[in-house]
Amino acid sequence: MTNKLKYFIGNWKMFGDFSSLKIIKRINNFCLKFRKKNKNSKVILCVPNILINFFSSKLNSDVISIGAQNCSHNKNYGPFTGSVSASMLKKSGANYVILGHSENRFEGESNKLIMQKIENALEANLKVIFCIGETQKQKNKCQTFSVIGNQLKKSIKKSFDKNKIIIAYEPVWSIGSGKIPKKNELIKTFKFIKNLYKKLFKTKKYPKVLYGGSVNNKNITLFSKISEIDGFLIGGASQSSKKFIDIIKKYYK
Ligand code: PGA
Repeated sequence: MTNKLKYFIGNWKMFGDFSSLKIIKRINNFCLKFRKKNKNSKVILCVPNILINFFSSKLNSDVISIGAQNCSHNKNYGPFTGSVSASMLKKSGANYVILGHSENRFEGESNKLIMQKIENALEANLKVIFCIGETQKQKNKCQTFSVIGNQLKKSIKKSFDKNKIIIAYEPVWSIGSGKIPKKNELIKTFKFIKNLYKKLFKTKKYPKVLYGGSVNNKNITLFSKISEIDGFLIGGASQSSKKFIDIIKKYYK
C-alpha cells in the first residue's frame, strides 16, 4: 500500500511574480544536492499561469517539475474570456495540474465539471493532482468516507489513465487553518481511499495518495511516520523556500 516515491508538491495559490524566481532557484539548488542522497522524492511546484513559462524556461530543471493550479473545462479555443485550456498549459511548460481543489469547488465546480477537466488534462498529456476532502460540517456528521468516495466515483472515469492521476486528500477544514487530522484518522482514511480506488477502477497497484492541509516543518515529523501517505500538497509553506526545504529535510530525518 506504500509507494517508495514521495511527492512534495507546492501549491502557490495566488502568490508570486517574476521576482519569485529566486525562491524556486533556491529550491532547485537544494533538490540538485539532495537528489544525490535520495532518489525517492519528486518535487513539483504548481504556480500561477503567468509564471509557468517563465519558470520552466529559466530553470530548465530536471529535479523540479512545474504545474498549474486549474484549467478550463473547455477543450478548444473559443469565446471563454479569462480561461486557459489544459493544452495551453502544457504548451507553456506545465507537466502537472491541480484539479478539484476545495477553493475552486467553493466557487461552484461540481464533480461532473471536474471530471471534464481531468479528461481534458489527460488528453493534453498533463498529469493530474486530483483533490478530494470533506468540510468540517461533513466531518461532524461522520460523512468523510461517503463524501470522498463520491468525489472519486463522480470525477474519475474507468477509461482514464490511472498512472497519470495522483490523489490529494485535503480535509477542507485543515487547509490554511493550522488544524490537522489525528494520526489514527489519517491511517483509516488513507486505507479507505486506496482500497476503494483499487476496487472501483480495478487497478493492479494502489493509487498514489498525498496529504494536504496545514503541512509545515513541525508537523511533518508526525506525517512521516504514516507509511500510507505518499507525499504532500503544501500550500502556504511552499511560498517560502526555507519552509519548503525544511519540510523535505525533516521528512527524511
Ligand atoms: P495549506 O494549503 O498548506 O496552506 O493548508 C494546502 C492546499 O490548499 O493545497
